[in-house]
Amino acid sequence: MGKRIMPRAALCAAIVAVVPALSACGGVKDPQPDVVAGKQLFVQKCGACHTLNRANTKGTQGPDLDDAFQQSLKEGFGETAVRGVVYKQILYPNRLKNAQGIKMPAKLVSGQDAHDVAAYVASVAAKSGRDSGRLASAVRAAGGGTAVEKNGTISIPADPNGQLAYTYAKATGSTGPVTIAMPNRSGTGHDIVIDGLGKGSVVSKGVSSFKATLRPGKYTYYCSVPGHRAAGMQGTLTVR
Ligand code: HEC
Repeated sequence: MGKRIMPRAALCAAIVAVVPALSACGGVKDPQPDVVAGKQLFVQKCGACHTLNRANTKGTQGPDLDDAFQQSLKEGFGETAVRGVVYKQILYPNRLKNAQGIKMPAKLVSGQDAHDVAAYVASVAAKSGRDSGRLASAVRAAGGGTAVEKNGTISIPADPNGQLAYTYAKATGSTGPVTIAMPNRSGTGHDIVIDGLGKGSVVSKGVSSFKATLRPGKYTYYCSVPGHRAAGMQGTLTVR
């Protein structure tokens, strides 16, 4: 994805838009944004479409948010300005589809949640390295452990926190008939596919599954939704 330079006008408009909004809370003191909650919500609601290094999200349907803000930060726009832009984008995204035919849905988060997400994104955009402290453990890394065949089913859930990963990057099974099942409660559509064996349907809440007859060997299971496999949504099934 190419670098995007944010127009100065958009940034200034966003600052003007967000500051009165923040100060117009009817005398109630602004709640401090909770960046830990903001990170969790970002991964859950935004990460499937956006790459953001610190959040370890790798979505490609929307712009890379590190790239998007790098130039403006270099030009001296501060975190507050970026926060305003993100907040405004959450509430009023561009209503046009991008080149991939994707439109960002409005108000995926609202109220305090929108402030938390905007504050988190602004605090980490264009930063290298890893989150530290409480932010480091805000979202559990997916892909540890091994899914094991049980009563004829191998269950490989999608990461419930919204990361583009299955809960298990490894699975084992035995030869013979089996059901490959992928429970998904993330809210982002996923499926599970093994080339030559079968393909479940794309589900956002529910279970994607297919039946197959396994032979010894190693197989790759992956999500066929565009961009998800490349972002890491795959694993290896070993059949003995
Ligand atoms: C279904 C995919 C999708 C989801 C989910 C999504 N976005 Fe987007 N986003 C896009 C697309 C496409 C664009 C580019 C078009 C536009 O500006 O609306 C975009 C643009 C943006 C931009 C502007 C970047 C720039 O280059 O100026 C920001 C900031 C942003 N999104 C933040 C978020 C946040 C925060 C969330 C979660 C609350 C989110 N997005 C969820 C698809 C998505």
